[in-house]
Amino acid sequence: MASSRGDTVPSGIGQLDELLGGGFPRGRCILVTGGCGTGKSIFGMQFLVEGATKYGENGILVTSEQSPAAVRSDMIGFGWDLDKLEKEHKLGIVDVATPKSKVPYAGREEVTRLINMNTLLLAITQIQRTIDAKRIVVDSIPGLELVIEDRAAIRHAIYRLIATTKELGTTSLLISEGRRRGEISRYDVEQFISDGVIFLEQIRYKGKFERGLTIVKMRGISHEPKTCPMVITEKGIRVVPTTVASLPSSLEP
Ligand SMILES: Nc1ncnc2c1ncn2[C@@H]1O[C@H](COP(=O)(O)OP(=O)(O)OP(=O)(O)O)[C@@H](O)[C@H]1O
Ligand SMILES: [Mg+2]
Repeated sequence: MASSRGDTVPSGIGQLDELLGGGFPRGRCILVTGGCGTGKSIFGMQFLVEGATKYGENGILVTSEQSPAAVRSDMIGFGWDLDKLEKEHKLGIVDVATPKSKVPYAGREEVTRLINMNTLLLAITQIQRTIDAKRIVVDSIPGLELVIEDRAAIRHAIYRLIATTKELGTTSLLISEGRRRGEISRYDVEQFISDGVIFLEQIRYKGKFERGLTIVKMRGISHEPKTCPMVITEKGIRVVPTTVASLPSSLEP
């Protein structure tokens, strides 16, 4: 099992903390990446919901691919009532996916069809202060490129986003996706600046798809670089921390 040298934050993902030696390193930024449908959004939401309901850590979701209404509706199947958490000021959603949306707690309408990094970072900072958020999830980094004005400077924008979450002292998950199968990040910068990388995948084996999770890197934590089976049920994501890799090393094409 893994061992950690410092303060850790429970991930809320079933049995993942055993692999992490307690959880994610506190105040750090973790990249959660993988192909489509591999469970990245569920992973991020579970981190926020479990944080707010079990560990007294409020959270912020920055959603750039799906509207908050779609996110709330998708997550209700897991018994996660985001609406309730928002009303209790345990969760703040920054909507950069909807052309016209309201920034929570800012008390005014914001047009966010094209945002710039300054307004986004200001919104995140305002919400973090208002609800004393300890966790932030950005779903997703490639989705941001579609909506930010300064897209030519996307690498610098990602750098600023990560720097801001660290300044705020939050533990953050950035959700990303490579362009090609097996590729870890879209812009490279996010995998190098992040303190940790978790890679989710669906592996075809004997005609069936199996879900897998790999801790590619986690600064400050000694972990084994192996792929563990992962399942998604009506309770969310659970990892199966096997001591022997149970997924085949020679995969079907
Ligand atoms: N209740 C459930 N039980 C089992 N599997 C589920 C359940 N709900 C969703 N899933 C699985 O989770 C997958 C979607 O997960 P999620 O939306 O987190 O993926 P993603 O990696 O964010 O995808 P995308 O790249 O499209 O954003 C679905 O394709 C489905 O297979
Ligand atoms: Mg998603």
